[in-house]
Order: sequence, then structure tokens, then C-alpha cells
Amino acid sequence: MDIGNNERRMLRAMLSDPSREWTLDELLSEAGWADQVHVAGSGAVLEEAGLVSVTEHREVVVSLGEEGWRASNDGLLETRIWNWLVSQKPEDRTMSALSSTLERHEAGPGVGLLKAMGCTLESGTLVITDESGIVSEIEKRSDFINSLSEGPKEQSHLDEEMLSHFSGRKGLIVQEDRVSRTWSLTKQGKNSDLSELEDVEMIGEVTPELLQSEAWRDADFKPFDINAPAPTPSGGRPHPMIALIEMIRSIFLEMGFSEIEGDFIQSAGWNMDALFIPQSHPARTMQDTFYLSEPAQVDVDEKYLDLWSKVHEHGHDTGSKGWGLDFDKEESKKSLLRTHTTVNTVRHIAENPDEPCRVFGIGRVFRQESIDRTHLPEFYQIEGIIHEPEANLPMLISTLKTFYSKMGFPDVRVRPAYFPYTEPSVEVDVLWKGEWLELGGSGIFRPEVTEPLGTEWPVCAWGLGLERLAMLVLELDDIRELYQPDLERLDRMPIL
Ligand code: PHE
Repeated sequence: MDIGNNERRMLRAMLSDPSREWTLDELLSEAGWADQVHVAGSGAVLEEAGLVSVTEHREVVVSLGEEGWRASNDGLLETRIWNWLVSQKPEDRTMSALSSTLERHEAGPGVGLLKAMGCTLESGTLVITDESGIVSEIEKRSDFINSLSEGPKEQSHLDEEMLSHFSGRKGLIVQEDRVSRTWSLTKQGKNSDLSELEDVEMIGEVTPELLQSEAWRDADFKPFDINAPAPTPSGGRPHPMIALIEMIRSIFLEMGFSEIEGDFIQSAGWNMDALFIPQSHPARTMQDTFYLSEPAQVDVDEKYLDLWSKVHEHGHDTGSKGWGLDFDKEESKKSLLRTHTTVNTVRHIAENPDEPCRVFGIGRVFRQESIDRTHLPEFYQIEGIIHEPEANLPMLISTLKTFYSKMGFPDVRVRPAYFPYTEPSVEVDVLWKGEWLELGGSGIFRPEVTEPLGTEWPVCAWGLGLERLAMLVLELDDIRELYQPDLERLDRMPIL
């Protein structure tokens, strides 16, 4: 019998309890091995020799998905709605009151769930028709989710009805195929006498030394088992966001753009007034913008304060009538965390009004947003401008199309939009899995913006969301996943 030392070791381990079916972990510890590759490899040789039989077990393992974890922490959507319902007087159980207690996308599906359990909607008010039915169903569903929060379970051990219910809902559970093996001795294996087994070294690795000597001529080679389970090596890698930023940077550099940067802290003047955003604009309030108390003000060149105040009040000589409102220079000096990176491109023009340029920047911006699946209070924008005598709208659109096709999204469309600082203004959508998704804004800067900066050339400008793009590239449906320090998940994200 031509078996090697590893095989003998495995056989010896199995003969310690000859009738037993061994799992991987049991064999590893009995044989004193650290790597499953030994068990798989030796097991295959012994199977070939008729001494061991290997059985494959396929099972489906169920665990909680992203939404499932959320449900195990905050309660299922139907539980949360139910708790709200019973805390309200019957006449107060209106859809509109409900919507205000939930996230916007939740109310519709939530009511659908309750209707299926014994609730009706009568002229905008939810009416409970089968209280005990709902309570027991909700309990069953929560128990199911809670049991999975203790750890993944084999599908065959789970309630079939609940399983089919939850597999029809998005993101609550994840079902994965898992293959495991067991090893047992065949009759022949049980009778094998270790002392009789010839101790032949089988060669698993071909080395230069082996080939240079003549030894290989008479050697026995271990067969390769390409199906043997092996550990997946995992090495270091850049964070997906860093990799994505690098990719975007090289695309714009390749397209002939230069990179610019700017500070997080800016004046309201440069962040907003320079962009002809009226001082009464709702986005300028404390609810939307992070103003700083330290320093509360930053210096702004008086020359620009004068120009902006004229432009805002009556249009100055831009051909515009302005906003017709009193301009407050103190307001312009307020310091804030930049709300968009458009402040960088505008300042770049002010510093280089006579130089044609194509520049871009990728930077973080800050807005008072509550955190949810698609919003973060800190996020990145991909900003850029083309400032030159012949800049025009088709040039803007083809630049954005080129950029997105290089990113892997060849279908791009633009829609008319509104920004106080551009005319025309367009919103940029890309086609993804049959759906148009809005990824950014752009347009040609208005003369109210460009003239005070000292240029008469047109400026193509854009500001695109980076995290939304990252969600498409990395196939995520929750923006928060990008910034959670979950090393396993990060490791599974595609390498760009
Ligand atoms: N600044 C805009 C935003 O933050 C995007 C934009 C940039 C729009 C440049 C037009 C021109 O959404």
C-alpha cells in the first residue's frame, strides 16, 4: 500500500475509535493538525485506497441579513407599527400620523404587512380587525428573528412557514449553502494494520532540487485534489473608499484635469454668497449647515464682500436684477463646515481668473442630515470645472458621460434642474440595473457668480456624490456599510 506519513497519521487517529464518523474538527484535534488541508488531502488518498469513506453533507444555513440585525435591535417593522398603533386612540391611528413616526420608505410596506395580518385601512385610518391574530403572528416572527440573532442555524431546524415568509422580504435573512464532510473507516480500513503499512514518502511538491537529482524518476507523487477545501488567504488591502477615490482621481487626471484642494472650514461668503445663494435660502439655516462657534468668523476680502452685496441686492452689472434683498456682510463672515466642494472651484477661479483651466477635487462635505440608508452628515463630493472661453453645455455633458463610462456606467442622462448658481442646471443620472439613479448636479455658472470672480468665460461645473457611486460599484444597499469597521465585510467587497 503506497500511502505516506500524513495518511498513516490520519489512519492512526481514526483507528483510536474505528467505528466513529469523524468531523473535520475532531480529526484535526485527534491527529494534531492545524490545517484542514491535511485532513482533506490525506482523506482523499485514503479514500482512493479504499480505507476511508468520505461523506459530503450539504445544508443551507440561515443567518440574519442587514435588515434582520436591525429588526433584532429595534424590532420588526410590523412590531414597531403595532406598538405605535396600540399606544394611540383608535381615531388617531391615521396614516399621516404613522408616517411621521417612521422613516419615509417604511410606512407603505409596514401597512401592507399589517393588512395581511388583520388590519384594514378605512379612509386613511388603520382599523384593527383581528387583534389576537396579529399579536400571535408578530410574536412568532420576532421569536424567529431573535433565535437567529443567537447565531446562524441550519435551515432544516427552522420553522418552514417563517422561513418562507422571511425569504420573501428584503434583507432580513441570508441563506447560504454550506458543504461539510465527515470521514469514517471502511471495513478494510478498520482492519488495516499500521505496522504493515509501508512507509513511503509521497511527494507533494516538485522542487528544483528534486528535478536536478534523479530521485523523481522513482518517486511517488501525491495526486492533486483540486476540490479539497483550502483556507482563503486574506492579505491587507486598501479600504474600498480609498481605492475608489484613487480610481476617480486617475480617471480625471487621464482626462487632462488637475487636482485642487480646499479647507473644511470656510466662510458663508465663499460657500454660499459667491454662488449667488440668497442669504434667506433655507439651506443656510442651522438645521442644514454646521456653523462654527470657534472661530465664529473668518476674514473675507472686502473686495468680494462689496461685489457680492451689489450682485445680491440689484445684480450690479451682471445683467441680473439680483435678489432685491439687503445683503448682510456679517452673515458672509460666519464660519462653517463647507456644505459642498463647489466652494473650492469658485475660489480657484477667483485666484486664477485669467487662466483657462480644467480642475477637479474629491473632498468631504458636511450637512446636518439624519443618518439613514442613503444619508450621512459627512460625505464626499467629486467636484470639477471647465473654465475656458469656449466652455459649453455639450462639453459639460460629454465630460460627465466620459467619466461615468470609465467608471463602468456607460448609460448617463441629464435632466433639467435648479441650482441658484447655474443656468442651465442639470441633474445627472446613471442607469443601474434598469433604474435611473441620480448621482449629482451640474450646470454653467451664472454671470452673477462668474463676474465678481473676475472672469467672463463660461464655466462648466459639477458636483457628484461619491458614496452613492460607491454603493453602485460595491453593490451595497446601505450607505453606512462603507464606514463600518467590519473587517470581514470589507474584505469581501470587490477589489477595484
Ligand atoms: N453643489 C451642488 C450640490 O452640492 C452640486 C453642483 C455643483 C451643482 C456644481 C451645479 C454645479 O449638490
